[in-house]
Amino acid sequence: MTEKVAGGASLRPLREEDLPTLFEIQLDDTAQRLAAFTDKTAHDRDAYLAKFRKILANDEITNRVIEVDGTIVGSVAAFPIQGDMEVTYWIHRDWWGRGVASAALAGLLDEVTVRPVFGRVAEDNAGSVRVLERNGFVRVGTDEGFSEARQETVTELVFKLN
Ligand SMILES: CC(C)(COP(=O)(O)OP(=O)(O)OC[C@H]1O[C@@H](n2cnc3c(N)ncnc32)[C@H](O)[C@@H]1OP(=O)(O)O)[C@@H](O)C(=O)NCCC(=O)NCCS
Repeated sequence: MTEKVAGGASLRPLREEDLPTLFEIQLDDTAQRLAAFTDKTAHDRDAYLAKFRKILANDEITNRVIEVDGTIVGSVAAFPIQGDMEVTYWIHRDWWGRGVASAALAGLLDEVTVRPVFGRVAEDNAGSVRVLERNGFVRVGTDEGFSEARQETVTELVFKLN
């Protein structure tokens, strides 16, 4: 099953054999700083693989790989947390600024029709804020959290799509 989204990208279910590539994509320091709310698995390949094997076994979580011309350029997911559905996405740095995240999130939101759905971003992650806004999310609040990637407390913006 492959779903075409805009900008030449397509979504397909994430498989275990994709995990090493996705680990390498998320290893980028600039990306980790931007995302801010990473965890200890971000630099630990075995821990990352173990975490994602559990995630893949959870059928309440929708994980999609984003491909352009058969190359994996990132991932997008929707997962339940404390009773809410939340989205997350990560794009290879070489592909930033080409509309891939916006199109991938739009494709995911066609598949995952549960509403409301939430998104959370570090307040200075302007690209991610735009990705949510372009998909109709509106800002509903803020939170404070400790950023593993930055080793400091970071303000997080909470977005909601009804
Ligand atoms: C945030 C991220 C997903 C954006 O992906 P992307 O594919 O570059 O996003 P898009 O190309 O769809 O860009 C959406 C908009 O944001 C803008 N944008 C992208 N990166 C930006 C940046 N660093 N600063 C300012 N604006 C940015 C684009 O110009 C575009 O604006 P437009 O709607 O006015 O045209 C990507 O930078 C990334 O993967 N970062 C690391 C992981 C991360 O932060 N994930 C989100 C966690 S909440």
